[in-house]
Amino acid sequence: MKQLLEHIRTDALAAFSAAGDAQALDALRVKYLGKKGELTALLKQMGRLSPEERPVMGQLANQVREALASALERRQRDLEAQALTARLTSEAVDVTIPGRPAVLGHRHPMYIALDEIKDIFVSMGFQVVDGPEVELAEYNFDKLNAEEGHPSRDWSDTFYFDTDSRVMLRSQTSPMQVRSMEVMPLPIRIIAPGRVYRKDEVDATHSPMFHQVEGMVIDKNVTMADLKGTLNLLAEQLFGKGTVTRFRPHHFPFTEPSCEMDVQCHKCGGAGCPTCKGEGWIELLGAGMIHPNVLRMAGIDPEIWSGWAFGMGLERTAMRRFKIADLRLIFENDMRFLEQF
Ligand code: DAH
Repeated sequence: MKQLLEHIRTDALAAFSAAGDAQALDALRVKYLGKKGELTALLKQMGRLSPEERPVMGQLANQVREALASALERRQRDLEAQALTARLTSEAVDVTIPGRPAVLGHRHPMYIALDEIKDIFVSMGFQVVDGPEVELAEYNFDKLNAEEGHPSRDWSDTFYFDTDSRVMLRSQTSPMQVRSMEVMPLPIRIIAPGRVYRKDEVDATHSPMFHQVEGMVIDKNVTMADLKGTLNLLAEQLFGKGTVTRFRPHHFPFTEPSCEMDVQCHKCGGAGCPTCKGEGWIELLGAGMIHPNVLRMAGIDPEIWSGWAFGMGLERTAMRRFKIADLRLIFENDMRFLEQF
């Protein structure tokens, strides 16, 4: 029996150190130390020994069991350490490899122009306001003095949501004049940038969706001279000192008198070229003194208060500001184009 015990010890210890992973080691634990294992089987035969031999063998058996148990534990720890080292090596990150640079976005030229416009007006005490793109015809037309039958109210020009022509995509930012008059205390100085929609085909200068910036001042003793002074300043700050402008009479239902402001062509200096279609001038915005009817409908007394307003196309302004030839470039968002600004 002594030999058998020694044999188990040598066998088991060799097998433990040869075990390649935790699973194999556990199988060996069952084989040697388990309830049906070799050592247990041997101990069951102790009964056959003589009374003198029994305690000696018992002691030896215990020694073997302890030796196996502690060898097993040691091997277990070694295997765990090995596995950890292997994992650390295989999952190692080389922190010295240069990173991939993150691709940063780029400000869109039209929004660069808009930010410049906002800065110019905010520095003059204007507030920037925002309003709905889905608008009531009441605000887009009625309260702006454009009564039923006005050509721009036609279904061929405007996107309506209902058959009664009451809800629409705003065709201009001018409804923000009325919305501001209705909720803001006087005097008012606002600009209102945003999207507008018209049934236009896409070409080099048209799009069914485009952007406008509306501006409005209501105060006491406001005159056309304030309008011209402010808009000339806008042109100089946007396009550079010495930018030449001109004001032409025009008609808008919500202003009286009304005008359009042109900027002298940056390409030809007014001589006429393809950029200005031979005109020498590029139209920049519509403006005028707010019609007394519009003030009255918003509950403002035109005998006490007066005001002026303007509306400018943002794409067109950006095109002039950055000398862009085709409106479609503004909407295509080709990175090669956008990154030039
Ligand atoms: N809303 C006009 C348009 O879309 C532009 C405009 C003209 C706005 C005169 C104004 C204004 O505020 O006073 O063509």
